[in-house]
Amino acid sequence: MKNAKITRKITQGVYALTTLGGGCIVDTVSRASAGEQPLITVAVAKTNHSHKLLCENERFALSVLGEKVNPDIIQTFGFKTSKECDKCGEVETEEINGIPVVKDSLGYMFCEKVDAIDMETHTLYVGRMIEADVFEDEKPMTYAYYQEHKDDLRKVETETGKTAWVCTACGYVYYGDEVPDDYKCPLCGLGKDYFKKREN
Ligand SMILES: Cc1cc2nc3c(=O)[nH]c(=O)nc-3n(C[C@H](O)[C@H](O)[C@H](O)COP(=O)(O)O)c2cc1C
Repeated sequence: MKNAKITRKITQGVYALTTLGGGCIVDTVSRASAGEQPLITVAVAKTNHSHKLLCENERFALSVLGEKVNPDIIQTFGFKTSKECDKCGEVETEEINGIPVVKDSLGYMFCEKVDAIDMETHTLYVGRMIEADVFEDEKPMTYAYYQEHKDDLRKVETETGKTAWVCTACGYVYYGDEVPDDYKCPLCGLGKDYFKKREN
């Protein structure tokens, strides 16, 4: 493959996926059908805790993040795992039909899961949008905007005694003394060579 980075030019948005027990930042969201209750798809990595949560839950929400979103929301949902913290307790949320949605967002799509399709590294969850609202009519954040501004949007905190290794392709942070030789970034799938040490 000459340069797989061309996939970063696929235009997509940045969303906070939430379900019971947590959620994560996703960019792999599409509207896959039309009508009053369209089908919405989202690809979630099998290595993410949200994957397990989505296997167990029938409903999820996607909060659309704007360019002016508080970076803490990206930090919490995109760089921590719901396995170890209560993400929805750490940021301001509002409950819609029992599922928390992010208040500091442009609005949400509330979906009922209708299918889960195996995509090798990810599962493509298909949801029917049964409720939705617009909170703000501001500019949505695109994945390209995230890439351009990721240094400002991402706060890399070195945990005591650990080094932060940042994936130069997508910004994912691995904490540990060394990146294991066979490590693959859970976000973009690239290997150890793409990780650069950052200490602060
Ligand atoms: C801009 C951005 C886009 C992301 N897109 C996805 C995505 O589409 N699918 C996915 O599974 N993870 C994606 N991630 C990674 C997850 O948000 C991240 O691994 C998160 O910490 C997983 O949390 P969890 O273990 O609670 O599920 C993205 C992260 C960022 C910062």
